[in-house]
Amino acid sequence: MDSSSSLLRLDGLTKCFGKFVAVHDLSFAVSGGEIVGLLGPNGAGKTTTIRCITSILQPSAGRILIGGHDIVTQTEAAKRELAYVPEVPSPYDMLTVMEHLRFVAAAYDREDEMARAEEILRRLDLWEKRHELGLNLSKGMKQKLACACAFIHCPRIYCFDEPLIGIDPKGARELKDMLAERRAAGDAVLVSTHMLDTAERLCDRVIIMHRGEVVAQGTMEELHARLAMGTGATLEDMFLRLTEEGAAGPT
Ligand SMILES: Nc1ncnc2c1ncn2[C@@H]1O[C@H](COP(=O)(O)OP(=O)(O)OP(=O)(O)O)[C@@H](O)[C@H]1O
Ligand SMILES: [Mg+2]
Repeated sequence: MDSSSSLLRLDGLTKCFGKFVAVHDLSFAVSGGEIVGLLGPNGAGKTTTIRCITSILQPSAGRILIGGHDIVTQTEAAKRELAYVPEVPSPYDMLTVMEHLRFVAAAYDREDEMARAEEILRRLDLWEKRHELGLNLSKGMKQKLACACAFIHCPRIYCFDEPLIGIDPKGARELKDMLAERRAAGDAVLVSTHMLDTAERLCDRVIIMHRGEVVAQGTMEELHARLAMGTGATLEDMFLRLTEEGAAGPT
């Protein structure tokens, strides 16, 4: 991959909580026009990594560049380029669906993009709920609203932390189509997921983490070549091999 075209770049990211090392020496890049899957068992460090990318957490070591801006020293410029959908979205109780979109568009100086609000909300089946308060949305609707907020301000880098959990099949299909459209438009997408069949179909490459380290990364073909588990091996087969206790260390 040509690292000069990377919209998102992590160099040696380490994040410790006290003495516990949650992420260790993690390096990867995501270019425009790519969807990259961040995979790993519970506790692997996916959310911690994404929280460092979004500046919710300060890295203990290493550097994160977003659209060329350092997230620690050029936080505002970096965050302008970034959309983030958290693992557990928490919309404002007292703002309606439409007010959330207006709030985010205004925060990013992209009020002009509100022209796309109806299309985004219709695609995510939220149009009928546009005047509903955040408080009264169902769990999946809250998740969809967080996604709608990510799409409204036209960032170049999208970070989704398990976006498909709790979203119905039609919404999930729509969201996957919307991510693929962003890829086609040249944006970079990083998405953490446990849905390995989805990752296999949606992602151009995957990064598999285990205990805070990368144990494998690459395209499906590259993983096949490395693991030599036979052509019939699925991503799930390879994931389970790579993350079983006592598996070979990172490469
Ligand atoms: N604020 C914190 N303080 C202490 N330990 C933390 C903190 N946040 C995360 N950890 C630990 O860091 C490790 C990685 O957690 P993280 O949430 O990044 O995992 P994950 O890969 O996102 O897992 P999951 O698939 O369950 O979402 C876990 O062992 C977790 O307990
Ligand atoms: Mg997580």
